[in-house]
Amino acid sequence: MSIPLTGNAGPTDAELLEEINRLRVEKNAVILAHYYQDGKIQDLADFVGDSLDLSRKAASTDADVIVFCGVRFMAEVAKILSPEKTVVLPDMDAGCSLEDSCPPDDFAAFRAKYPDHISLTYINCSAAVKTHSDIIITSSNARHIIDQIPEDRPILLAPDQHLGGYLAKETNRDMVLWPGSCIVHEQFSEKELIKLKTEHPDAPVAAHPECPAHILNHADHVGSTSSILKYVLDHDAETFIIATEPGIIHQMQKSSPEKTFIGAPGMDGECNCNQCPFMALNTLEKLRDCLRDLTPTIEISEQERLAAKAPLDLMLEMSPPPSQNQAQNRPPTSGRAY
Ligand code: 13P
Ligand code: SF4
Repeated sequence: MSIPLTGNAGPTDAELLEEINRLRVEKNAVILAHYYQDGKIQDLADFVGDSLDLSRKAASTDADVIVFCGVRFMAEVAKILSPEKTVVLPDMDAGCSLEDSCPPDDFAAFRAKYPDHISLTYINCSAAVKTHSDIIITSSNARHIIDQIPEDRPILLAPDQHLGGYLAKETNRDMVLWPGSCIVHEQFSEKELIKLKTEHPDAPVAAHPECPAHILNHADHVGSTSSILKYVLDHDAETFIIATEPGIIHQMQKSSPEKTFIGAPGMDGECNCNQCPFMALNTLEKLRDCLRDLTPTIEISEQERLAAKAPLDLMLEMSPPPSQNQAQNRPPTSGRAY
């Protein structure tokens, strides 16, 4: 005999949203979300953007609390740039495989071997690794920053070997690369991508530079999440193949519902392996909890914060001005202008 299921099924999304909307006003909080977050989180955020947009928003907000819906290194950057704010992350286990691929002590030893090199470090790294870097870069400002570095100055780029390889080729610069990579972008299959391209011969391929070269070689556009979004919105093709984390397809479908966006396939042609498992840890429920309890918070010692802030400040100074496409703002529920 089957026993009927009873008990508490937990709050509905609508109930969670109502609570989040009440709490964000009560706590004077701003909710920042990366394009790889679940669509429901993107829809309720005050700003959705790429790593650079979100760093800028974190540095300029006048909210008391920053709820960072993204991964830990992004929330750490918010704390480094806005130390007086309370910065909470829905799930403190939301790490990043690129960060994990670059342990601070190993990086410090590597950096010491190249004293004449300028150390450009991708923002996807720990605060400790940032302290050993000269300038932080993201995929949307890297090219612009490299162009400001004297041509005879060799570059040490960490931790993403694929972003580094792509930039070395694009800029024709001498670079030493740290051998790190993103587990998500490494899952795309070249064979399956070629198959998909033959099925959709008119569909441009847009790829993130964290993809390996054998994927980037098939791309019509390579860029950061915000750059990929702008590319597909501006382009008049009907169908696009997207080689990055599929969370971004939510914004594409919202902005261009008449177009079709196909996620680039993984190794078996249809796996879900290119969803970022770290980004996926953040849920509406955990977002409500961290806003209500103001925990878990990001804490960094003042010494480490100041050392990590110097290369981040240089990044902000050397970045191109924000483009209109960056940071999709939603009207704040609280009626405040952030
Ligand atoms: P963007 O800066 O392009 O948003 O990339 C962040 C990231 O983690 C990509 O995997
Ligand atoms: Fe890190 Fe890759 Fe996830 Fe981006 S997609 S946060 S690089 S693990």
